[in-house]
Amino acid sequence: MASLKVIFLVVDIITSCFFVSMNGFPDTTIDGLVCLVGKVPVDSDVELLILYMLDDLRENTTSHGYNYEVDKTMGKYHYWGNGACNGRLENVDCDQCIIACSNLLRNSCTLSPGAHVKLRDCRLRYEPYEFHGNW
Ligand SMILES: *[C@@H]1O[C@H](CO)[C@@H](O)[C@H](O)[C@H]1NC(C)=O
Repeated sequence: MASLKVIFLVVDIITSCFFVSMNGFPDTTIDGLVCLVGKVPVDSDVELLILYMLDDLRENTTSHGYNYEVDKTMGKYHYWGNGACNGRLENVDCDQCIIACSNLLRNSCTLSPGAHVKLRDCRLRYEPYEFHGNW
């Protein structure tokens, strides 16, 4: 009887690991959130550029191999952005994770001229300067 229980326990652990890695929703625990000091003017070109940047990162990170780098210009402003997901996520979970990042940046770094957030399973960043790779 005792050994049967051990077998059930092992099967339980194996199935829960399987579901965590294959069907798990993204882990959106916040590991870091930084807003660049200052505010861009409301209804300005630079605010619009930042909103376009976030839309682009939200729409294109999953379909660009889970690590999407982009730069955009509007008027005299030039911005760089990056969105990245844990490669083990399903597409839908990468999308959900990036949406969570984008909402956090919009709500917690409203009008900030630059910002980044790191969640356990994905990250999102936009800055008025060039940056690459792991951050
Ligand atoms: C996503 O990328 C495509 C192709 O580069 C681009 O045309 C589109 O505008 C991007 N989406 C957004 C919301 O910017």
